[in-house]
Amino acid sequence: MIEKLAAMGIRLTLDAEQIIKEKNDERLLEALVALKKPLITKSDVDSVLAQRKEELKVEVRGTTGFVPLAKDYESDIQVVHTRDVTGKSRTKGEVENFVSYFRNRYTRISRFLRIPGAESLVDLKDIKRYLNERVRINVMVSSKKETKKGNLLLEVEDLTGSFKVVFSSNSRNEKLAEKAKGILLDEVVSISGKVLEPYIIADDIDWPEIPVMRERKKSEKDLAIAYLSDTHFGSRYFLEKEFKSFIDWMHGRGEAKELAGKVKYVIVAGDLVDGIGIYPNQEKELVVKDIYAQYKMFDDFVESLPDWVEVIICPGNHDAVRRGEPMPAIGKDLISSDVTSVGNPSTVVVEGLKHLIYHATSIDSMIANLPNASYSHPEKVMVEYLRRRHLSPIYGGNLIIPENIDYMVVDDEPDVLHCGHVHKNGYTQYRGTLLINSGTFQDRTEFQVKQGHVPSPALVPVSEIKSGRLRTLDFKSG
Ligand SMILES: [Fe+2]
Ligand SMILES: [Fe+2]
Repeated sequence: MIEKLAAMGIRLTLDAEQIIKEKNDERLLEALVALKKPLITKSDVDSVLAQRKEELKVEVRGTTGFVPLAKDYESDIQVVHTRDVTGKSRTKGEVENFVSYFRNRYTRISRFLRIPGAESLVDLKDIKRYLNERVRINVMVSSKKETKKGNLLLEVEDLTGSFKVVFSSNSRNEKLAEKAKGILLDEVVSISGKVLEPYIIADDIDWPEIPVMRERKKSEKDLAIAYLSDTHFGSRYFLEKEFKSFIDWMHGRGEAKELAGKVKYVIVAGDLVDGIGIYPNQEKELVVKDIYAQYKMFDDFVESLPDWVEVIICPGNHDAVRRGEPMPAIGKDLISSDVTSVGNPSTVVVEGLKHLIYHATSIDSMIANLPNASYSHPEKVMVEYLRRRHLSPIYGGNLIIPENIDYMVVDDEPDVLHCGHVHKNGYTQYRGTLLINSGTFQDRTEFQVKQGHVPSPALVPVSEIKSGRLRTLDFKSG
């Protein structure tokens, strides 16, 4: 122990050395190193020990009056296996896989584009029979460009053929031109317009959307769910002290004890660890350079939670599963603690509330392509997932594996959409769905400084499922 200090060039007075030997406590050693003094005296050791005693007192005092309601309830978690790729990946990345993938996407989303009262729907193979008439087409956008005159020219296709669509930029159509700016490549939309060979001149566009008349679902039980994401264990930016405060809070040490006692579930939306070789020179930013050791840190976290708490996890782009989405669940070889491990994305029904959990790797390409989208409001981009009924509309914007089924289609509107990836908390409600981006426990990285991105670490959203109330707990220190 003493040797460790000597190796760091830290000297000790004899009486300090005596106490350290007696205590034989790694944490004491860490606290002394943190003082960053070249010479440690007895009074340094005494003050560190006194401070630790004081912290302990706070913890002990803090737990009185803690009533863990969640302890009295059985857990209620159902994984919707049809929405999870785990164990079901069949693709070989061949042409027919791509064809099935896009047909599946088109067929499933276009079902939501049957607009009541709208003009009759025309297949693209028949489009030339409707010259000078108004038609409606349900199509996938295969290319998008601006013409010299500033009009928007789309190439679109359905299962029967392809055609071109023009959105005019002239001032009579300002509202429509604005709407058309939100069109993304590869998404499935409904367009109405007049057929004027060789184009359709569009006069409206609709997205599949989720239904309007929905109320947010609640539960009978007075329990709560804590939402976490992007813990990035192993990173040198991981906020250990703040994370420890979160764990302490879960044990009823701190403010809002009543809420802490209701937390039955912790759901983590990916990037559990920082991973290895995720980006060039990442090793310089790691304090733990072994992937198993990084996941061991996550296991230790699960073990440190009160034993009545259930943990649900999905992977993100930093986790050790395949890089392309949909991602299978993180295996038992990496996480051995008792968790519900699901794929990314996944649907998990918790206490009757349908949770769509998605790491949200596609947020980057959505922000790059949608007007008015930004990293400071991830919840606004999450609304666009629901409006488009797709979690990653732009094919190739991030790595997507063409499975025969498109796991990113949102068939079934969720009660909660939980995402991460951008390290920025954001919440909203949209048509009866609660949208949560649960932020991070990683401090601002150098890369984020260069990007000008300001993350919001150590803020944990907690939802009370009976009242529907969402609160954000702040574990930032200082
Ligand atoms: Fe992350
Ligand atoms: Fe991520």
